[in-house]
Amino acid sequence: PLKDKQAVGRWAAQYIVQRIKDFNPTADRPFVLGLPTGGTPVPTYQELIRLHKEGEISFANVITFNMDEYVGLSASHPECYKMFMRTNFFDHIDIPLENINNLDGNAEDLEAECKRYEQAITAQGGIELFMGGVGHDGHIAFNEPGSSLASRTRLKTLTTETREANARFFDNEINKVPKLALTVGVGTVLDARELMVLSTGANKSRAVQATVEGSVNHMWTISAMQLHPKAIMVCDDSATLDL
Ligand code: GLP
Repeated sequence: PLKDKQAVGRWAAQYIVQRIKDFNPTADRPFVLGLPTGGTPVPTYQELIRLHKEGEISFANVITFNMDEYVGLSASHPECYKMFMRTNFFDHIDIPLENINNLDGNAEDLEAECKRYEQAITAQGGIELFMGGVGHDGHIAFNEPGSSLASRTRLKTLTTETREANARFFDNEINKVPKLALTVGVGTVLDARELMVLSTGANKSRAVQATVEGSVNHMWTISAMQLHPKAIMVCDDSATLDL
């Protein structure tokens, strides 16, 4: 394991940069990158921004798909994941706006929106590298405990536990945390050609243990990583305490 979340951010950013560079030296096809929100990936985004500013990496030929989105938050709410991604990453790099894909949690027909998203991923030839985080209860994206491991992009009801965990981003008021979200499915994540999940902090150590030492289990949807032929979990020291 790496020392702390900053070290995880540096490692993950270097990995992404290398993969983008190796993938497409002739720039004839874009690199399709799946991305998460939450506190965990922020140091990675900061490091990618730094590397971009130093001229190390361009995102001009990268297409992104974010994993999930709350239902019903106004587009200007800082925790609307589309907004979060702009503030924390996209506004600071050279990715063309049309290359950024987000689920629309305010779409009139949410089911059609989920279908559209799956089709958009397929139309780009699938996701090359999916970076993820993990909830302390072992969810990936918003695939709450009990989600089918074959699930596709869909509407999910958030568990009280997840809403409590995310209340820190909503003035510590659980009532302000949306009850519904759109999320890519576990099956959607597993379809990516490569999977990289970041875990930092002691409150993720149970989820890391379930992923690495437990059985593949729909109560810890992150454990589906075991089914993937090319998956890595990048941890800091405290996230490995239960191993
Ligand atoms: C949310 C997101 C997940 C994220 C998880 C962990 O529920 N939907 O994609 O991985 O939280 O967040 P954090 O990194 O803030 O611990």
